Amino acid sequence: MTSPLRLGLAGLGTVGSATLSLLREHAETLTLRAGRPLVVTAVSARGRVKARAVSVEGLAWEDNPLDLPKRPDVDVVVELIGGASGVAPALAEATFAAGKDLVTANKALLAAKGAELAHRAEDAGRRLMFEAAVGGGIPLIKTLRESLAGNHVRSVQGILNGTCNYILTRMEAENLSFGVALEGAQAKGYAEADPTADIEGHDTAHKLSLLAALAFGTAPNLADVTIEGIQRVTPVDFLYAARLGYRIKLLGVAHLTDEGLEQRVGPCLVPLESPLARVDDVLNAAQIEGDAVGALTLIGRGAGGRPTASAVLADLVDLARGTTVLPFGVRVRDLRSLPSSPPDKRVGEWYMRLHVKDQPGVVAEVSAILRDEAISIESLLQHGRSETREVPVIITTHAVDEASLRRASRRIGQLSVVREEPFCLKIERPEDGA
Ligand SMILES: NC(=O)c1ccc[n+]([C@@H]2O[C@H](COP(=O)([O-])OP(=O)(O)OC[C@H]3O[C@@H](n4cnc5c(N)ncnc54)[C@H](OP(=O)(O)O)[C@@H]3O)[C@@H](O)[C@H]2O)c1
Repeated sequence: MTSPLRLGLAGLGTVGSATLSLLREHAETLTLRAGRPLVVTAVSARGRVKARAVSVEGLAWEDNPLDLPKRPDVDVVVELIGGASGVAPALAEATFAAGKDLVTANKALLAAKGAELAHRAEDAGRRLMFEAAVGGGIPLIKTLRESLAGNHVRSVQGILNGTCNYILTRMEAENLSFGVALEGAQAKGYAEADPTADIEGHDTAHKLSLLAALAFGTAPNLADVTIEGIQRVTPVDFLYAARLGYRIKLLGVAHLTDEGLEQRVGPCLVPLESPLARVDDVLNAAQIEGDAVGALTLIGRGAGGRPTASAVLADLVDLARGTTVLPFGVRVRDLRSLPSSPPDKRVGEWYMRLHVKDQPGVVAEVSAILRDEAISIESLLQHGRSETREVPVIITTHAVDEASLRRASRRIGQLSVVREEPFCLKIERPEDGA
């Protein structure tokens, strides 16, 4: 039999343990598919004596993960520790320095240093694989990098964070406030004790920057992603969105415009007929639009031990077979440098929710500001009277540039009859990127 591919596994948490289990469980089929056995020879984590979901008996243990690539019985380092700073980048560096291949699920690291690491891998003549970094078990990286190589991709839109999708789904289904839905997600283990990276949109931005890099042949550029979280969404927004024919989803959106590459993360109104509108709970999805293939949507489990391990194993099988793919599809020196589309110039339709005093003349004042900013109203909804004498008014606009929308929103927020600055959600149609 051909010699095994020997793996050094760094990190034995949710994904690391599941990867080790799945390697054992599917050893036979993996050997057939890879053409050789995939064998873990050494592991590393913080606590050697910690109780684990999987046995590490018989495997060499390294207290310091940076010693894994130095081992002669390790061909590939599998980094499942996480983080853009600290041990993970040092381990990536040490792996290429030792002339070994790296498989990682670390989106934070790749979003921050993807091109730099790809360059290090190229220089060392080694491979950097990261299918597990975006969309958990959904094969998004391979799809963009390989399966759609014959296309010019026009747009990528995705629900890329299961925690946020779960929270938004529960808020809508059970009429819950954001805070209560977040607590529910934490109780079920779908949200971390510190949920900041998820709910503020940063995790989605990490993943979007990687998808955009693959789709448009650029280096990942996290700094150019406009990011907004889901904390200001309220139950009222779901009610009105439904009346208008939409659902609310946290989307990562990347597309090329005349002004440059637009990368944006934020809660959006998605038309009910869009495939993304039907993706609920912890599921993730991405809709990709290519010039040749048209639109395609991939839906599946975007997180969790086994789905993510499934993606890690796909990379390992590719490595074992000797497949050579460039991390971002092209050589680092051939990555394009695209300008970022200025947020103010972005054009789109918007949903605006404001709370106004329930008295005559308010709508006229709001309409006057919108008229001044040349914003044309698509619909205006105001229902019911309120005991607090405040009522929500919901406005949707025709296409408008974002600068005008934001200016109008600030001015409306300053009216004495309006309680606070309006809450604005972009209306995101699948064909917007076409
Ligand atoms: N969880 C998911 O659903 C998911 C999905 C997609 C991608 N990812 C990515 O996969 C990676 C791992 O995530 P995870 O959820 O498995 O994390 P996790 O459960 O927190 O596990 C992290 C592992 O890293 C080890 N570790 C931390 N610091 C270390 C250090 N300085 N030296 C050695 N080992 C160290 C921990 O050791 P101890 O066990 O001893 O504490 C633990 O085994 C991250 O990049 C994450 O973004 C996760």
